[in-house]
Amino acid sequence: MKKQHISFIKVLSLVTVLMIFASCKRDNNYTGHAYFPDMAYSNAFETYGSSPNYADSVVMMHPVEGTVPRGVIPYQYGAKSFDEQQRAGQELVNPFMPEKEVLKRGQEQFNIYCAMCHGEQGMGDGYLYTNKLFPVQPTSLRGDYVQNKPDGEIYHVITRGSISGLMGAHGSQILPDDRWKIVTYVKNGFEVK
Ligand code: HEC
Repeated sequence: MKKQHISFIKVLSLVTVLMIFASCKRDNNYTGHAYFPDMAYSNAFETYGSSPNYADSVVMMHPVEGTVPRGVIPYQYGAKSFDEQQRAGQELVNPFMPEKEVLKRGQEQFNIYCAMCHGEQGMGDGYLYTNKLFPVQPTSLRGDYVQNKPDGEIYHVITRGSISGLMGAHGSQILPDDRWKIVTYVKNGFEVK
């Protein structure tokens, strides 16, 4: 009886060792059997591809209407309205002081987005106008008319464009902080001090 028992253990260990060896495969890319293969290998759709699972077949969905990105405050003043422009001027506060870093960034951004029309010194003589590529003379940003405007009004003009629409809106191109830095630069004599 005892002898039989020992040989049973021997057989069992032999089978176990054989099973271990049998489970080794030469193909290094073979990952073995998968339980629930439809979960192990998911059917991912390409971001810009199409999928039969959606009514419009668009994989990358639009955010729900009214969604606001984190840290973004929607701009609440409407375009092409004198009242809205004035209200922005009364209510918005420039968060920056005319410090060197601020003015430097303002100058960089001004030269990229504004100088071709208004001129590097804001005289209304940018090359688009002087080369007759832009039909109307852009307003001088050095004169009292603009210099006496509250910062928020200039910020509004950058964001929404001018009331007549001759100057386009730059809200989608220039970050809010950079708009304020441009305003600071314009209001501080076009100089980095
Ligand atoms: C494509 C040319 C163009 C660009 C670019 C441009 N402007 Fe203007 N801007 C104009 C014109 C033209 C006017 C006059 C518009 C009008 O009277 O409706 C104007 C008017 C203005 C005014 C006066 C608005 C008012 O209430 O009368 C300000 C301030 C101003 N621009 C600032 C800027 C700043 C800052 C930038 C850069 C972010 C900029 N502009 C970019 C053409 C431009």
